[in-house]
Amino acid sequence: MLRVRGLSKRFGPVRALTGVDLEVQPGEVVALLGPSGCGKSTLLRCVDGLEAPDEGEVEIAGVVLREARSDELPLLRRRVGFVFQGSHLLRRLTAEQNVAIGLVAAGQPTHQALAVARAALERVGMGWAAGRRPEELSGGERQRVAIARALVGEPLLMLWDEPTASLDPVVVHEILKLMEGLVAESDRAMLLVTHQVGFARQVAHRLVFMEAGRVVESGPPEEVLAAPRSQVARRYQMLLGA
Ligand SMILES: Nc1ncnc2c1ncn2[C@@H]1O[C@H](COP(=O)(O)OP(=O)(O)OP(=O)(O)O)[C@@H](O)[C@H]1O
Ligand SMILES: [Mg+2]
Repeated sequence: MLRVRGLSKRFGPVRALTGVDLEVQPGEVVALLGPSGCGKSTLLRCVDGLEAPDEGEVEIAGVVLREARSDELPLLRRRVGFVFQGSHLLRRLTAEQNVAIGLVAAGQPTHQALAVARAALERVGMGWAAGRRPEELSGGERQRVAIARALVGEPLLMLWDEPTASLDPVVVHEILKLMEGLVAESDRAMLLVTHQVGFARQVAHRLVFMEAGRVVESGPPEEVLAAPRSQVARRYQMLLGA
């Protein structure tokens, strides 16, 4: 589903990513863990095409991003859903408009797109808020709307960048439950950045540990946490008291 090969990205003197290889199979849930600044968000942004890598390539569903024809790109992007830390909703639009906007941009008639958007809002328990603007919603509710927006294109691959950061613990629990349901309901591939290591252990098929822009360890949760080889993985093992 996703294949990343030899990805490197620099911001001036900062090497954000160095030679990252990563594969996510259809239906596989992979959690990306590592200290702040190790390159997790940069990796997701390169996968989503928001950031152009200096070296290496990203292949989604058999298409190499860099080589994709301009008519292939919109379709490819719709097959990838991205949920950011903080919901990044457009303030002037209602919840249903926020969810529908990508579909409209891709050429779907507005009334149809809004109907699909409302169905997506229902799926995340936010049907009641279709006509509300982001400022009329709580942080957790906004994040649900953002999840609906990511789901609405029926993505084959979902990217999550700390979707529960800066939410209160009760809401974190609700969002994690929602994500767990999404994992169970389909064979969508997911690449998840989270500091909720207990959750990662529970839902991910594989944990990938990063440090200073490199992947340093990867494997099934129980395996890597039972016998971590890298310092990063050992730190997470201690965090879990595993
Ligand atoms: N647009 C940018 N311009 C300059 N430097 C950047 C930019 N984006 C990221 N960086 C740098 O690249 C490195 C990796 O950043 P990145 O955001 O990928 O880390 P992260 O693992 O997501 O961290 P966190 O857990 O804090 O979100 C950091 O040193 C960061 O300062
Ligand atoms: Mg980040």
